[in-house]
Amino acid sequence: MAKWLDNAIFYEIYPQSFMDSNADGIGDFQGIISKLDYIRELGCNALWINPCFKSPFGDAGYDVEDYYTIAPRYGTNEDAKQLFEEVHKRGMHILFDLVPGHTSVEHEWFKESMKPERNEYSDRYIWTDNVWEAPENMGSLRGISDRDGSCALNFFSSQPALNYGYYKITRPWQMSPEDEGPRATLEEMKNVMRFWLTMGCDGFRVDMAGSLVKQDEEGKGTIALWQKVRKFLDEEFPQAALVSEWGEPDKALQGGFHMDFLLHFGPSHYNDLFRCEHPYFNKEGKGDISAFVEKYIENYKKSEKKGLICIPSGNHDMDRLARTLDEDEMKIAFAFLLSMPGAPFIYYGDEIGMRHVENLISVEGGYNRTGARSPMQWDGGVNAGFSTASKDKLYIKQDESKDRPTVENQQADEKSLYHEIRKLIAIRQNHKALQSKGEITFVYAEKESYPFAYVRSAEEEKILVVLNPSDREVKFDCDLNPSEVIYSFGGEAKAVDGKVCAPACSVSFLKV
Ligand code: NOJ
Repeated sequence: MAKWLDNAIFYEIYPQSFMDSNADGIGDFQGIISKLDYIRELGCNALWINPCFKSPFGDAGYDVEDYYTIAPRYGTNEDAKQLFEEVHKRGMHILFDLVPGHTSVEHEWFKESMKPERNEYSDRYIWTDNVWEAPENMGSLRGISDRDGSCALNFFSSQPALNYGYYKITRPWQMSPEDEGPRATLEEMKNVMRFWLTMGCDGFRVDMAGSLVKQDEEGKGTIALWQKVRKFLDEEFPQAALVSEWGEPDKALQGGFHMDFLLHFGPSHYNDLFRCEHPYFNKEGKGDISAFVEKYIENYKKSEKKGLICIPSGNHDMDRLARTLDEDEMKIAFAFLLSMPGAPFIYYGDEIGMRHVENLISVEGGYNRTGARSPMQWDGGVNAGFSTASKDKLYIKQDESKDRPTVENQQADEKSLYHEIRKLIAIRQNHKALQSKGEITFVYAEKESYPFAYVRSAEEEKILVVLNPSDREVKFDCDLNPSEVIYSFGGEAKAVDGKVCAPACSVSFLKV
């Protein structure tokens, strides 16, 4: 695994909404380049950019029309190259978003694949052998071509499924991953990776990585497929990194991914922490962290040393953290995110507590996700410094409240969320035990109980993390003897007579 992942802290950029350099109301690569120093100063040293290839944008770019060309609204391939260079100059790394599971219906491959005459692309997508039969358990496109068949959908109706084969074959038109068509699809995806990695990209976040091979309940076919990709990377690009949108680290890391996300779907209980009726990080103190920890331990044991489990602050598919947590609660949540193993991912704007913009009409297939994708709020200028376009041209409406957080007002306030996150990142960078590969042992994570405590360790260093989001003082049995406070927020936890006592709404990192 690439060495740079040992201490990577990622920042996710939704390119449409980050910084507009040419006043068209939509963010672009030159805008991102102009803000790299801001990201570096926050302490992040790696980026994930949401899809930026040519697309009709029916799903914000997750519907690719051409994997080899940057969408003109973001710039050119030359701009991408410049972005890679500027990122590297600052000692940072960058991942693009790879969408291997489907394309847009506008992709040339699909247009060719729709033709009744057999051609190179006939098997690139999953087609049944007559229009009256639809693929089981999947949506399909039917009656749209002279080809006599239905084409399987992977997500929205404009996203036909690329063909990587079936693990369990039950119909004559289903292919094995070893058949020529599925093999050619995978080879082409490797070419796409090769193209961008050669240009200077450092790797990919992989969309819907766990569902490429169909009728593959236990994921065995998909795991085998990704093992082939890992082999190719190890041979040709050993410094490259892959992070999967899978949500099941035991499977993803077995497949050779260097990292997997815990997500708002899947079995991880990630939502118990931040986004449910009683989030654990809410000060009402009615949350429950035990199921999350139980699942985490299971994954951690299975995945040990194979790769990293990554916990994001949010992403372009989830509600903003600020929808369920207030600023102090977010500070405690970030103390957790930035002291866990794996590589942390900060969703743009979460570091200043950007709010979920309510009641928006869907933009580019965003639907309820649109409110988490609004343009970044930089300062007190026009459109919060995001763009000089007229307000009605902005990609998505911004948070219009007078007290909306901006980078400028958060930087001016020493007690802000921004400064707390910056401090936490600096502490993580200075303590190996807190970084990606430091060990974790859970000390206190009881059912419906507070606080939450764990020890991180590497070599001789041991750090006890005590998080008490609840608004009451709490104690737990603990025979560790803290010698030094490395970080605290809301008061320091104290050890007395075999118990550690944590003040209400507090965080402590203690050397033990
Ligand atoms: C997951 C992506 O994060 C989401 O935004 C997208 O709509 C679907 N995959 C389909 O590609």
